[in-house]
Amino acid sequence: MTIVVIGKSGQLATDLAGARAQYSGDMVFFGRNDISFASLAEVDDVLHRFAAKGVINAAAYTSVDQAESNHEQASFLNEVIPERLAIACEKMKIPLIHVSTDQVFDGAKHGMYNENDTPNPLNVYGMTKLRGEERVGKYAEESLIVRVSWIFGPSARNFIHLCLDAARRQADFSVVCDQIGKPTYGPRLAEELLRLMALMISGEKNSPRGILHVAGPNIMSRYEQAEKILDTAATFGFPKASCAAVTTAEFGAAARRPLNAVLDTTKAEGTFGISFRDFSVDLRHTIGQIAGLQAVRTEMK
Ligand SMILES: NC(=O)c1ccc[n+]([C@@H]2O[C@H](COP(=O)([O-])OP(=O)(O)OC[C@H]3O[C@@H](n4cnc5c(N)ncnc54)[C@H](OP(=O)(O)O)[C@@H]3O)[C@@H](O)[C@H]2O)c1
Repeated sequence: MTIVVIGKSGQLATDLAGARAQYSGDMVFFGRNDISFASLAEVDDVLHRFAAKGVINAAAYTSVDQAESNHEQASFLNEVIPERLAIACEKMKIPLIHVSTDQVFDGAKHGMYNENDTPNPLNVYGMTKLRGEERVGKYAEESLIVRVSWIFGPSARNFIHLCLDAARRQADFSVVCDQIGKPTYGPRLAEELLRLMALMISGEKNSPRGILHVAGPNIMSRYEQAEKILDTAATFGFPKASCAAVTTAEFGAAARRPLNAVLDTTKAEGTFGISFRDFSVDLRHTIGQIAGLQAVRTEMK
């Protein structure tokens, strides 16, 4: 009962590897050096070779600002790869979970975005991710598109590491205060994705299909998130850095971003029992793990 995961050293792929005890079968991981996606035949070959029973696509071009000037690569990763996976999975009649993003929305809605809201991406990343969703929906009947947001955890470089780096350097930094979203704990997200995949493989009548929004329970701005990170880090002995609140316009990133990226997770919670702990609990756990690793590295020097 092997699941093929696309992505190996990325944040979510690492969390999926960490959660593998949740899945009773085998899992194999394909990073950029293991598969080129140059042809559909290559994807067919990989899935047949491992007798895959399901595929999770955790690979993507995720550099939101760089995507603005690297449309071609973003398009290959976020559109062509999902399309080839969808076609290959459909041929084998196996389920595909394709991971997507809150950035398919423009952020203009008053209130949370549910699965029926119309996407309208503001940037190249969001546009290519939306096209990837559309291709998956078109080619793979047995597919689930899981839109996620603001993934954090100890496994990879993310917003928490950025704040901790600033704290270590005792550097002042600016954080946008007008973008709101739901931080989502990667290790828990990975467990839930594996549970959803097991349901899909079991072929139960009510197994998930279509689009599903999965995110943590707390709504906050990036600035509020940064403050919580710095406060928690200080309790683990990190120096206290200060961050300044700026507007998105003042920050001036290359890519436009939705001001409201809040996903409505009612369906995930009500239909599939998906739940996350409070942000503060997983934040403490994350910073504790990062601080522990840092202490080990210092001792080994
Ligand atoms: N991080 C977030 O806050 C966030 C928010 C919303 C949605 N998402 C979505 O969540 C998913 C996972 O994101 P992430 O944060 O884990 O991304 P990430 O850390 O940037 O990892 C990207 C993954 O893509 C893989 N990849 C890159 N080029 C590849 C190629 N040519 N062939 C095969 N694989 C390739 C990488 O492979 P290697 O393992 O070889 O490096 C890596 O595993 C993505 O779909 C993303 O759009 C993420």
